[in-house]
Amino acid sequence: MSAIAIKPSLLRAAKTSAPRFSRAAWLAAGLVGTAGTATYLYSNSNNSNSNNSNNAGKKLSTLMAGVLGANVATVPQGKTLKDYQEVYNDIAAKIEENLDYDGGAGFYGQLVRLAWHSSGTYDKNTKTGGSYYGTMIFYPEASDGANNGLANGRDFLYEFAVKYPWISRGDLWTLGGVVAVQESGGPKIPWRPGRVDSYEKKDIPENGNLPDASQDGKYVRNYFKRLGFGDREIVALLGAHCLGKCHPENSGYDGPWGPSFNMFTNDFFVRLLGSWHVRQWDGEKQYEDDETNSFMMLPTDIALKEESYFLKYVKLYAADQDLFFADFSKAFATLLELGIEYPRGTKPFLFKTVEEQE
Ligand code: HEM
Repeated sequence: MSAIAIKPSLLRAAKTSAPRFSRAAWLAAGLVGTAGTATYLYSNSNNSNSNNSNNAGKKLSTLMAGVLGANVATVPQGKTLKDYQEVYNDIAAKIEENLDYDGGAGFYGQLVRLAWHSSGTYDKNTKTGGSYYGTMIFYPEASDGANNGLANGRDFLYEFAVKYPWISRGDLWTLGGVVAVQESGGPKIPWRPGRVDSYEKKDIPENGNLPDASQDGKYVRNYFKRLGFGDREIVALLGAHCLGKCHPENSGYDGPWGPSFNMFTNDFFVRLLGSWHVRQWDGEKQYEDDETNSFMMLPTDIALKEESYFLKYVKLYAADQDLFFADFSKAFATLLELGIEYPRGTKPFLFKTVEEQE
């Protein structure tokens, strides 16, 4: 898959014409963000009580949650792999129609970041956050600076929330990440449905749960400990920075990590092992490559080279893409399910790529 020439009409097509809910409606729900961010309210019929069987499922889920003390996955009645593969295929087709988005990055990076940020609020100590409730559209989470720019991904997916009213926000956003990894050439990501939308303030995590890119390796290690990840998984997860770009308007950082930013590869690790210097510019402190001065690394990326407990895995993954794929697949699947309890024996779905279905 490679970057293609820009087709402005396709760029326009990326913007959904979905209706916006009025600010009054948001206020009535007590959920409006002070920043006034233009986000769509994903209101699925499974939450507006139009589906009795699903209500029964929700009641069961609540009951089980009471027993297990966790967010129990509840799959909408009768939905199988076939239904979710259909959503997968629609997302993949829309990605394919928008390959020129963001200077040829397409929506791969955007959708992987959306899936990760909806999950990365998890705190294993308080058992809060994570992707289960799909809360990122609500204040304060929607206004967290770390989520700047992710309205693009949520808006991109919104039409599928309308077309498939039974799918929850958390399922849609995490499924989007799975599609993006697989369709950009990455590994299969085992994925399980059953996240349930919440509209309750108590389910919305506070801001500050997503990582700060200006920090060092000790911070990164400590940050991911809160999510339950060890050094090897941390390094594997950060390999996702092969996709997409940093945007000054979102984060203060600028540029892609490498030239193949629409392909899932181990290139992040190969490049990281090259030579980097601090970029001279008036933005946030970031690094650029000695060879071309065209690519970037965040301080937290460079930290993977600075600490021996991370560096050994960087070297492993740079030398062996299959190993990286296998480890990333496991760690990313775990990340997307943080805080969710699955009834015993719930098998994950493995989606076919578009190519495999041809
Ligand atoms: C220490 C942990 C991490 C830090 C500090 C960090 C920081 C950042 C920052 C600052 C950006 C730029 C956002 C923008 O300007 O639009 C970014 C983008 C991105 N991040 Fe991370 N990240 C971390 C971990 C992860 C993980 C675990 C994943 C996925 C598994 C991930 C996937 C991505 C992707 C795909 C993009 C590109 C988004 C786009 O193209 O719009 N990151 N990250």
